[in-house]
Amino acid sequence: MIDKINALLREVEEMKAANADEIEALRIKYLSKKGEISQLMDDFRTVAADRKKEVGQHLNHLKERAWQRINELKDTFADTQAIDDDIDLTRTAYPVKPGTRHPLSIVKKEICDIFGRLGFSIAEGPEIEDDWHVFSSLNFAQDHPARDMQDTFFIQHASDILLRTHTSSVQTRIMETTQPPIRIICPGRVYRHEAISYRAHCFFHQVEALYVDKDVSFADLRQVLLFFAKELFGQDTKIRLRPSYFPFTEPSAEMDISCNLCGGKGCPFCKHTGWVEILGCGMVHPNVLDNCGIDSNVYSGYALGMGIERITNLKYQVKDLRMFSENDIRFLRQFESAN
Ligand code: DAH
Repeated sequence: MIDKINALLREVEEMKAANADEIEALRIKYLSKKGEISQLMDDFRTVAADRKKEVGQHLNHLKERAWQRINELKDTFADTQAIDDDIDLTRTAYPVKPGTRHPLSIVKKEICDIFGRLGFSIAEGPEIEDDWHVFSSLNFAQDHPARDMQDTFFIQHASDILLRTHTSSVQTRIMETTQPPIRIICPGRVYRHEAISYRAHCFFHQVEALYVDKDVSFADLRQVLLFFAKELFGQDTKIRLRPSYFPFTEPSAEMDISCNLCGGKGCPFCKHTGWVEILGCGMVHPNVLDNCGIDSNVYSGYALGMGIERITNLKYQVKDLRMFSENDIRFLRQFESAN
């Protein structure tokens, strides 16, 4: 019997299996109720009493090793077994929907691309600003209402650190460090102390454009505005300039475009006027040039600024401004094809 046990032990030590089924076959062969080792256990009853101790020890060792080997083999196949059982590698991959650009990013890119074709390069500035760059350098009077806590978010009470209320602050930052010719387009987020509603938010986005050089005239500004409006809203678009006031431009104007919904005939969207306002603009005030170290006797320039939300509304008729910041995937998916 000892010989038989030793022979089986050698077999057990050399057991090999290529997959989980083969391991199971080995288990059945040696360790199931009718397996070879179990049968030896049955035969053990017939062993003479004086040899029972020795044979019993060998037999127990064989059984123990058999289980150990089976478990070792199982361990080596554990990973592959999981794959076999749970994953069908032949299935097509789960479709992952790529993200899309946000409507405001789409329109911002479009605006920047149009000015880019005219030779403007992108400039950016900080959202946390100081009074000088947002107001003082831009010729705001000390008692201008925009400096009031009612309109502007101040970072610290009674300090001059604030969240910029317009991207015109980037004009100053660039003019302070660069001599003309300057031709920049500045997209960015701005903040105002507004009650949030469908038509106002406490943050929104603007794009600012600035051109400073020798002999820049209002005619140059008008030409660029017309080109811009036609590129963005279609070649039939007309523009009109209305006199306006901004501290940092003189003269200042607001630009309307012919209503892109009714083509200028008049509709509820344009309040039956045929025109919708899209931006503010003007010739850079000489004080602003001088404040930034640019000689206003030599150079002149124009500037313009617009709200990206407003332009996006005109293009896509989004009725509620809050939709832009709610991350509602059903809203955002509608702009997939515009990407
Ligand atoms: N900064 C103005 C605003 O926030 C927009 C603006 C108007 C910018 C006229 C300009 C400009 O550069 O010339 O309402």
